[in-house]
Amino acid sequence: MADKGSWALAITVCAAGFLSVRADSITETPAGQLFVYELHREVFQSEFEPFHKVFGHIYNDPMVFKCNKERFPDLPRWLRFTQRDPYENGFLYGTPLPQDQGRNIIEIFVINKRSYDTFKERLVINVGPAVKQMPYQAEFFIELREIEKVLPAAVQEEIRLDIQNLWGTGRLDFINISSALDRGGRVPLPLPGHFEGVYVKLGSDRPFSKCMLRLDSAEHRSECASGGKISGDCSTCSNPSNCISWCRSALLDLSKPVPPAPAPTAGPGVLPWAGEFSPPESPPDRDFFPGYIVTIIVPLALVLIFCLVLTYIMCCRREGVLRRNAKTLDLQLYHHHTIQGNASELRRMAGGERSTVDRPRQCLQPLLMAEQAMAQS
Ligand SMILES: *[C@@H]1O[C@H](CO)[C@@H](O)[C@H](O)[C@H]1NC(C)=O
Repeated sequence: MADKGSWALAITVCAAGFLSVRADSITETPAGQLFVYELHREVFQSEFEPFHKVFGHIYNDPMVFKCNKERFPDLPRWLRFTQRDPYENGFLYGTPLPQDQGRNIIEIFVINKRSYDTFKERLVINVGPAVKQMPYQAEFFIELREIEKVLPAAVQEEIRLDIQNLWGTGRLDFINISSALDRGGRVPLPLPGHFEGVYVKLGSDRPFSKCMLRLDSAEHRSECASGGKISGDCSTCSNPSNCISWCRSALLDLSKPVPPAPAPTAGPGVLPWAGEFSPPESPPDRDFFPGYIVTIIVPLALVLIFCLVLTYIMCCRREGVLRRNAKTLDLQLYHHHTIQGNASELRRMAGGERSTVDRPRQCLQPLLMAEQAMAQS
């Protein structure tokens, strides 16, 4: 009975442990269509202390996000990240191409800019094969928008409805949304009423409306180039921020097959006759002897001369002990030897074996005797 109880406890603990581990978020997206994932700040707020609302106060910490592909320093090529400032949500967005199919594991690091706590989450994006054929595509420029303001689903839907009026079909999907800054646009002045501008690209399997086809006419192009009055603008916008610039819209018709490039023309496969082959003349002989003399013989001779001079100085010009003694007076030599002897005698006496040393001698006596002997001779 007790055994059963402890098993139940263990299983409960294990289950609780598994449930408390936050699972990866998993999303699916088909290739060729816009993917948008919003990083909601209020969701991550619950990961940072204080975990609970204290006295009804809801925290609103500034947060920044760092996103990268797992084990890579950067995001996959097709995915981009944007966040306007730490008090706004972040967005991961982009359009995967058919060659980007597969699993993308994205690591998201959330940094709380109040407490500097961090939190890590994993997002798995499974890119599947394209589900829709969209041979008719059109790109529009929205002048009065910024990329972060267009990515929320509600705004995308507003824009889609406007384009639906223009195109005359509801079978529309977003293919791409990109900031004009990513396409060489200029950074706007930080004043109200100045915007970066956003390009949106939509696709459909329904042909363009008659009005849209005017975008492809020569008349439309010359009108836009002259910058005069624009006729034939049939776009509508329920929200003035979403109005498109008629002159910066473009159609992309992929329904007609692209004519293949002309095949290269094959030649006969034989090179034309260019005459007998004559090998080039071999270069004239060169005389290396003067170079040999200058670089080898002259330095060697100099080294030899220096050696001889040094040998002569060292061996023949030295004074030598015998010659020096022969030049010195006998008295001087004797004097020198007695100084040496006395010094060594004093040294011996300073040592321990004083009793073994002979008694000190009169040191002047032998000198006088020697002087007398020399005077007599
Ligand atoms: C989407 O737009 C970006 C920026 O202009 C571009 O780099 C990317 O290739 C586009 N993707 C597709 C699928 O058109």
